[in-house]
Amino acid sequence: MSVTKPLPHDAARLHVTGQARYVDDIPVPAGTLHLAFGLSTVAHGEVTALDLDRVRAAPGVVAAWGPGDLDPMPDCSPSAHDEPLLAPWVVSYHGQPLFLVAAESHLAARKAARLAAVDYAEAPAILTIDDALAANSRFEEGPRVWARGDAAAAIAAAPHRVEGQIEIGGQEHFYLEGQVALALPQEGGDMVVHASSQHPSEIQHKVADALGLAMHAVRVEVRRMGGAFGGKESQGNALAIACALAARATGRPCKMRYDRDDDMIVTGKRHDFRIRYRAGVDGEGRLSGVEFVHYARCGWAQDLSLPVADRAMLHADNAYFLPAVRIESHRLRTHTQSATAFRGFGGPQGMVGIERVMDHIAHQLGRDPLEVRRTNYYDAPGGEAGGPSAPPSPPEGISTKKKTRTPYGMEVSDFILHEMTEALAERADYAGRRAAVAAWNAENTVIRRGIALSPVKFGISFTLTHLNQAGALVHVYQDGSVHLNHGGTEMGQGLFQKVAQVAASAFGMPVEAVKITATDTGKVPNSSATAASSGSDLNGMAVQAACDAIRGRIAAHLAETHQTEARRVHFAGGRVFVGDDEMSFAEAAKSAYQARVSLSATGYYRTPGLDWDRIAGAGRPFFYFAYGAAVSEVALDTLTGENRILRTDILHDAGASLNPALDIGQIEGGYVQGAGWLTMEELFWDEKGRLKTHAPSTYKIPACSDRPDVFNVDLWPGENRAATVFRSKAVGEPPLMLGISAFLALSDAVAACGPGYPALDAPATPERLLAAIARVRG
Ligand code: MTE
Ligand code: MOS
Repeated sequence: MSVTKPLPHDAARLHVTGQARYVDDIPVPAGTLHLAFGLSTVAHGEVTALDLDRVRAAPGVVAAWGPGDLDPMPDCSPSAHDEPLLAPWVVSYHGQPLFLVAAESHLAARKAARLAAVDYAEAPAILTIDDALAANSRFEEGPRVWARGDAAAAIAAAPHRVEGQIEIGGQEHFYLEGQVALALPQEGGDMVVHASSQHPSEIQHKVADALGLAMHAVRVEVRRMGGAFGGKESQGNALAIACALAARATGRPCKMRYDRDDDMIVTGKRHDFRIRYRAGVDGEGRLSGVEFVHYARCGWAQDLSLPVADRAMLHADNAYFLPAVRIESHRLRTHTQSATAFRGFGGPQGMVGIERVMDHIAHQLGRDPLEVRRTNYYDAPGGEAGGPSAPPSPPEGISTKKKTRTPYGMEVSDFILHEMTEALAERADYAGRRAAVAAWNAENTVIRRGIALSPVKFGISFTLTHLNQAGALVHVYQDGSVHLNHGGTEMGQGLFQKVAQVAASAFGMPVEAVKITATDTGKVPNSSATAASSGSDLNGMAVQAACDAIRGRIAAHLAETHQTEARRVHFAGGRVFVGDDEMSFAEAAKSAYQARVSLSATGYYRTPGLDWDRIAGAGRPFFYFAYGAAVSEVALDTLTGENRILRTDILHDAGASLNPALDIGQIEGGYVQGAGWLTMEELFWDEKGRLKTHAPSTYKIPACSDRPDVFNVDLWPGENRAATVFRSKAVGEPPLMLGISAFLALSDAVAACGPGYPALDAPATPERLLAAIARVRG
């Protein structure tokens, strides 16, 4: 069978030889126009004058539009209708698109976009979390609160308490391929759009809205993205809408591509958070109560901030049972880019909160942080559910004495972190190396070392329940070749390869027999964003359903011609076995075709058993959990703050992996991206709200040389208990949170410098590390 094989990414060769086609590589028709936005140069204020005469007169310019030229003003938001394409006279952040230019070349458009004469009546800008709190500037009326039990009373009654705060910076997606779209006007006013988007159906919907067309008049195609990481769920809408509008206005194809600086200045990033915490524990560090206050900086528009902030709350427990808990979440509106989805979708920020609490408790009690973590782990589920084919979670009536219920009331019925942690600690020699680190630190005062093990439990499913559905379209041609299409998008994560392996397995064919095709809203409608890590779970199942339908028809047909039963027809190794006879798959397909059997099918899947009330914070938002654990060891130069990861060991749970090579790639990449977020990637806005880190010269993502010197990644050998496609598990986002161990290891190294608690903020840049060292020395 093709699934479970570590086959290379279907486009690996195309990627490394530069032949893979991205939107910018599509040859454009003669006469194509190139677009650029003119951007606001203030963070907040009114546009009192906007003169585009010089823009329109610039060489190569064909047209320019200001907010007064668009009526109605198109909306670019995913749902809140609060993102006008062009700032409608009031500007909400530095870098907001103010006007649109169409020119004969990319460069001409960009040059012209600098020529506008704009006057502003500047107003005070709300930039920081403190600014927003002072002005009570927020989305939703007040904070959202989810609670179980009386956390305050439990904390008051506890023998020990910890209390503190952590600042967690945002993160630029830094996809290598920037935002881009190409609109091709069709006959009768229809529009075809090529986009670099995780959400082609949303692009279709927004372009149709902007043009006043029905969705059937707009077709969106996405072959692949050169990385997305959540930054192409909603942030590509503006480009696609701009291209479609300009294409309609001029009758010419229109293309728009942000250059790197504009991309970073215009688009939203990961939400930065401040998390305040208070916890009560016993002498062993066992939690009795914990309170969190999350402050999320959401930027100027709502975008996906509410579900992001929800997911942060949903991961405030991570792997730990919280007997009494209160989580308060503030979604703050600021005059900055609209923060958006980023790998983990708020989950990472929530998890950093509780991992900080664990770390702080261990430090205060002088205990091994790993022991404190294990003491607080959820209980392993009882044996009763046992076996991989058992239902994912018994809904009600589980013993309340067992520590298996999340703060939001869902049973954790697949908890495997006790065994995983044990196995990883052994494999990585955690105890031995912790002793060695202590011995090193006793001898060396300049270079300090630190080590930390942290777990991940990440909920899989969209928390907006209706998004958990997917469709597929499969054709078998009479030569036995297979055309595969589904609603998922490829962003480098290997979804297309995995799903092709599912299709090949269904037909007992080698994967080469399956042609992977571009995501196309005309083939599979109403798709969800490829997000929440559920791409292969959802689309794999939908594809399997379509393939099963076709295979069933071929089997029924052959059973009839061979006077046997359909269950005696088998598909394997590119052959079809019918009773005692056998033939190639191509012969079987041809025979079915000639007997007038349909060889085309749609497939559909929806995740079962979800039930979630986001206002109450109660129910079952997730189908299952994905797990992992990582040990990171770091070395820190206490004179300069420079540091590196010496070694990382990871055990990660991808269920019965559909493709171990791709899954390990996701784990390695996710870890490095997570470690980069918390240790080196720093976004900096000045006092005027200008993002000063808008290029790789000032924004540092991990390079190859920043990978751990020793990097051991293993998959946990187990099947998903939930009935997913071939019992695999989602793997796209969860490994990012393994990077938290690198941050904790740095904190451990700082703690070796003095008696105080480091209370390190993220990202742990050299400056912050030096400040923390000074703090612990007291
Ligand atoms: N891996 C690569 N190479 N590039 C990406 O853009 N995005 C991540 C993750 N892994 C991403 C990636 C994010 S944010 C998500 S939600 C998942 O992939 C989406 O794909 P999946 O659902 O197929 O895992
Ligand atoms: Mo991923 S943040 O769900 O696109």
